[in-house]
Formats: sequence, structure tokens, C-alpha cells
Amino acid sequence: MNRKMNNSVIYFFGALGGLLFGYDTGVISGAILFIKKALHLNSYTEGLVVSGILVGAIIGSAISGPLMDKLGRKKVVMIAAAIFCIGAIGSAFSASTAMLILFRVVLGLAVGGASTMVPMYLSEMAPTEIRGALSSLNQLMIVIGILIAYIINYAFSGIDGWRWMLGLAFVPGAILFIGMLFLPESPRWLMKRGDESQARLVLTRLRNGVGVDQEIAEIKEANRKEHGGWSDLKARWVRPAIGVGIGLAVFQQFIGCNTVIYYAPTTFTEVGLGVSAAILGTIGIGSVEVIMTVVAIRLIDKVGRKPLLIIGNIGMSLSLIILGLVNSMAHGTAAAGWTTLVCLAAYISFFSISWGPVVWVMLSEIFPLSIRGAGMGIGAVFNWAANLVVSLTFPALLAKFGISALFISYGLVGVLSIIFVGKYVSETKGRSLEQIEMDLRNREQKGSKLRYQVSAKN
Ligand code: GLC
Repeated sequence: MNRKMNNSVIYFFGALGGLLFGYDTGVISGAILFIKKALHLNSYTEGLVVSGILVGAIIGSAISGPLMDKLGRKKVVMIAAAIFCIGAIGSAFSASTAMLILFRVVLGLAVGGASTMVPMYLSEMAPTEIRGALSSLNQLMIVIGILIAYIINYAFSGIDGWRWMLGLAFVPGAILFIGMLFLPESPRWLMKRGDESQARLVLTRLRNGVGVDQEIAEIKEANRKEHGGWSDLKARWVRPAIGVGIGLAVFQQFIGCNTVIYYAPTTFTEVGLGVSAAILGTIGIGSVEVIMTVVAIRLIDKVGRKPLLIIGNIGMSLSLIILGLVNSMAHGTAAAGWTTLVCLAAYISFFSISWGPVVWVMLSEIFPLSIRGAGMGIGAVFNWAANLVVSLTFPALLAKFGISALFISYGLVGVLSIIFVGKYVSETKGRSLEQIEMDLRNREQKGSKLRYQVSAKN
């Protein structure tokens, strides 16, 4: 590693996987309109082309956790980068629908992998005070990827333009691969492997020599308590963390974020906007997301994760309920169309300062080191599976129940998630990953003492 390598370069390349995640999931919303015509898709094959990537992502996020624990963070990011390139070229040159679906699934492997390893790599590299901000850099890259995809969709809207839309993802994939060649391995993973001297070297360069001994000591202490990787998953004391991880991951999808991201043009035309207004509205939504994610990065380590989740939820639920009510009273009118645009923009703003970044940040923080890869993987698998359920059912539910009932239902899920956060989620702001782990252990010890005392009394 180059001694003078700037930290921001490390973080930038680390987060490039997020950009590919965003681009590859966002690009299909516009591309599908042209693929449908070019490859004569029916509604069934259309669904497969759109959601193939989600199926791949479920698998990718399931296997990348254990792989990262085994091979290290760096190697697995490089494998994913290579798959991003293969998936981009393969889907751009697909001669048949079957081939396109296959390459979308392959691409999904890398997207799912990126969703677990980028936040983990970043949170392991970052010093405590800016860990939240750095991990949300990943989400910023995701939404920048989505915005670029929307703009590319607009720029290449022509019958064969879809091949360019899909193929252009090769460029960031190749940059990621080359960039990773020069990046260091995560010091926390190196310590786990027993390579303290290398870990010390990486940390010294990352922190300019400040506080290295203390950080090494903290990591050692956490490692000493490690029982044995995957078997720790069954331990009673990690259960609350796993429950919270799954809850956050699933609620993030069930509050409907991707119905907005993937189907914004559909929703806008549904409420009566013309096609060009719908496309511009979609780019507007993408821009709002990027701006508000930047705001989130400034807030996350100051305000904390939990208040953001709750404020975000209140805003999102209100936006969706107003959207639903206005459309139920004045469906098809210009006023309803514009109210929909404003409500979706408000919804996405609240999502972007809260659940968008906070979920990925917390998934990288709440698990103890010994199961961090596996725990992140479990959270991500549930996130992608919930995404698949919501994305696949959205068109059918929209047709059956109409926009008002559907969006009000997502709004009500938002209310449920406020209760979930209030009851089960603990703040992680300003605590080192090792302190968070210690607290989890202590809580379980206190819990079992309490249970012991109660049963002793009886
Ligand atoms: C989060 C979600 C992802 C969504 C993205 C959009 O990363 O996990 O599903 O597409 O935000 O902002």
C-alpha cells in the first residue's frame, strides 16, 4: 500500500460497490420499457427480467458473509467487481430473453455481495467518531448510482439504447477492480487471522499513528471473547442483535421504498402525468434522494441513529397517507397528480435521511466481530427477500387495490416500524464496535442473573 494514500481514496473505492448496487438496480426502471419491445416480453418474462437481480442478490448476500470471513474483505470485493463487469457486458450483449435473465441473476450475485461487504469494509476501516458518516457514504453511492441510472435512461432512450444502459455499468466495475488492487485489507479481519503486525501497519497509516495501540487492544479483547464463528450465531446473547438486524432489514423494504425507486415512472403515469413529466419527475426523485442522503451523513453521528429512524418514519407515513387520501378523493385530476409528486418527494426525503442510510449503517454495527460477516449476511438476505416480495407484488396490488389503498398500507407499516424501533433498537452512536459488543454480552448476563434471581425466589 502506498504510504501517502489518502484516506478518502480508500473510502471512495470502498464505496464504489454501492454505486454499482444503485446503478444496476435503478437502471432497469427505464430500460425495461425498451427491452419489452425489443425482446417481445410478456408480463411474466418482464417480471423475471426486473426481479432476476433480486434473486441473485439474495444468493450473493447469503454467501458473501462467510466468504469474507474466510478469504478476507478485499479478495471478495475483487471477486464481486469482476462479476459486476461480466454481468454488465453479458446482459448488454444478450441475444435472448433467457440469456438476459441469466445475466441479471449473475449481476445480482455481485449486487447482493456489495450490499454486505461495502458497509462492513467501511465500518471496519473507520475511526469511531465518523463511522456512521462513513458507512452512510455507501448509501450515498447507492443513490448516486440510481440517479446516474435515471439520467442514462433518459439520455439513451431509444429502442436499442437499453444495451448501452445495461452495458455502461462495466466502467465503474472495472474501476472498482483496479482500485481494490491498491487498497489495504481490513485491520479487524487481519487481527482475526492473527496477523497483528500487518493490522498495526494498516491502522498506523489509516490513523496517522494516533490511538493505534488502544484500537489494537480493543480488537484483541473482542477477539479473545470469540467462541467460534458461526456457532456463535446460536448463542443466546447474540439473538437480540439478530432480531433487530432482521427487523430493520425487512421494515426498510415493507415501508415501500423500492416501489418508489423502481416504479416511479409507473406511479406518475398512473396518477395522470404525461410520459415526459413522469421521466423528469423520476430524475427529480433521484436528485432529492442524493441531496437528502448528504444531509443524513451530517446528521447521523450527531443526532444518532434512533431519532433519525423515528423522525423519518413519521414523515414517510404521513406523506403516504396524504398521497392515498388525496388520490382517493380526486383521482385523475391534475391536483392529485402534482400532490403525488410532492408527497413522493417528501417520502423519499424522509427515507433518505433515515431508513435508507441508517439500516445499512446499523447492520454493520450491531453484530459482534465473531459473527459480523454472518450477521450482516442474514440482515442483507432478509432485506433482498423482502425487496423481492414487495417489488414482485407491487404491480398486481396496484391493479387490484388502486394507488390509495396500497400507499396507505405502506404508510401503516411505517407506523408499525416506529413501535419496533422504540421497543427493540438501541442507539449505537459514539460507541466503538467493541463497546457495542460488550454491552450486548453484559445485557445477556444481567438478563440471566435476573431470571436466576426470580426463579430462586420462587
Ligand atoms: C437502500 C435500500 C435499497 C434501496 C435504496 C434506495 O439502500 O436497501 O433497497 O433501493 O436504499 O435508496
